[in-house]
Amino acid sequence: MGRRECAQEDWKQQVTEFVTPKARDGVDNDLLSSFLDRIHYFKCDINDAFGYHELKDLVTNADNGFSQNIVFYLSISPALFGVVGDQLAAVGMNREDDGWRHLVVEKPFGFDQKSAEDLERILSKNFTEKQTYRIDHYLGKGTVQNIFVFRFANLLLEPLWNRNYIDHVQITHAEQQGVGGRAGYYNDSGALRDMIQSHLMQVMALVAMEPPADLDDESLRDEKVKVLKSIRPITEDMVDDHAFRGQYSAGEVNGQPEPGYLEDDEVPNDSVTETYAAMKIYIDNWRWRGVPFYLRTGKCMPESKAMIAIRFKKPPQELFKDTEIGDSHANWIVMGLQPDNTLRIELQAKQPGLELTNHTVGLETVESDENKHRLDAYEALILDAIQGDRSLFLRSDEVSLAWKAVDPIIEKWAKDKSHVHTYPAGTWGPEEVSRIHENSCHAWRNNI
Ligand code: BG6
Repeated sequence: MGRRECAQEDWKQQVTEFVTPKARDGVDNDLLSSFLDRIHYFKCDINDAFGYHELKDLVTNADNGFSQNIVFYLSISPALFGVVGDQLAAVGMNREDDGWRHLVVEKPFGFDQKSAEDLERILSKNFTEKQTYRIDHYLGKGTVQNIFVFRFANLLLEPLWNRNYIDHVQITHAEQQGVGGRAGYYNDSGALRDMIQSHLMQVMALVAMEPPADLDDESLRDEKVKVLKSIRPITEDMVDDHAFRGQYSAGEVNGQPEPGYLEDDEVPNDSVTETYAAMKIYIDNWRWRGVPFYLRTGKCMPESKAMIAIRFKKPPQELFKDTEIGDSHANWIVMGLQPDNTLRIELQAKQPGLELTNHTVGLETVESDENKHRLDAYEALILDAIQGDRSLFLRSDEVSLAWKAVDPIIEKWAKDKSHVHTYPAGTWGPEEVSRIHENSCHAWRNNI
C-alpha cells in the first residue's frame, strides 16, 4: 500500500526489475510469474479511514486469493505507527479471528528511552507483543548469527569466554559512504542513535550473553536482556571518559573527493551531529565485570567493514617477547561480519629457524559474498516474520534498556553544542578518541 498512483503492471515491472538481478542461479520464469501473480499494489493515503475498509475487502474477499494470515510491514515514519495501528484496528484487521496477524516495524524505535516507551504504548494499543516484530537488520545477517553458533557449538571457547581470560572486546562498524541523501533524518539522529544504540548493542549482547536454555525466541531474548540490564550506568560526569563523537570534514574516500558533513545542503552550518561515535561499556555481571567493550561506528571511513575483535590477556609469564615491539603478543579472535564472513584466531608459534622466537599465525576461514546460500539480512528476517519466529526480532524491553544505556550521553551531547572533533573523510576518525581507552593496548584494531 502506498499513496502514489501506480498501475498493477507498472508495479509488477518494478518488482521484477528489483528481484531479477538478485537471482543468484538465474531467473526461474515460472517461479517469477507465480510470485508476480500474488502481488498487488493498493493506492491509499495512510490517513484515509475509508481506504482501510477497501483494503480489508480486498484481502478478505476469497475471490482475490489472498492468505488469511497477514504480515503488516510498516516501512514508514514511526510518527505514523499510531495512525496505521488505529486505522487497522478500526476495521478489525488486527484481530486474529481467521488467521494470524504480524506487525513488522523498523527502527528508529524512538529517539530516547521515554519516546521509545511512548511509541510502545501506541503500538500496544492495537497489537500484542506477540504480534509485534521489531526488525533490526543486523540480526538477520548470517555472520551475526554465527557469533551464537561459534560460541555455543564449540566447547573449546566457553571456558575462556569471560573476565578471567578476555582483556577487552572491540566492536566496529565502519562504512565508506557518507550520509548521502539521508541528512534530514541523520542530522537529528547521529551515529550513536543510528548504529550504536541499535545494531552494535545487539551484537554486543550476543557476544556477552549466557547460553540460553534453548533456541526458543523468549529464551534468547531473555539472555540478551540480562546483558543489557547489567550495563554499568554512565552518569553525566562519566560521559567524556566513556563516549566520544566526531564529524567528518572534507577528504577523500576511495580516491574520490568527499565534501565535509557540514557542506551538505540539508545540514545546518553549526551542526555538531556526530558521524562517528565510540563508546566504552562495562557489563557488571559475573562473567564480564571489569572487561571493557568498545563500540565504534563511523561514516566516510577508509573501508566498509564490520567486525568483532576479542583480545585475550597475556600469558602470566612472558618467556617470548617480540624483539621488535619489546613485548609479548596477546591472542585475538576476530570475527569479520562484513564484507566477508571471516573468522580468525591469532596464536603464537615458533618462527622457523634456529632461534626460539615466536611470531603470530592466524587460523582463518573466510566465506565470501560469492556464497550462494548467503541471504540478505532482510530476506532472512522477512521469512522469519512470515513463519512467526521472533527470536531475531527485538523485544520492547531490549529496546528500552539499550536507550537507557545511551541516554545520558545523548543528553550531555545535546547540551554541548559548541564543539565536535572532526576527522577528514577517508580516515579512521579523530585520534582524540583514545581518551576512552583504558590503556594503549586497547587501541583500535582496524584489520580483520
Ligand atoms: C542502518 C543505518 O540501520 O544501517 C545506516 O540507519 C547504516 O546509517 C546501515 O548505513 C548500515 O547497515 P549495513 O548492513 O550496511 O552495515
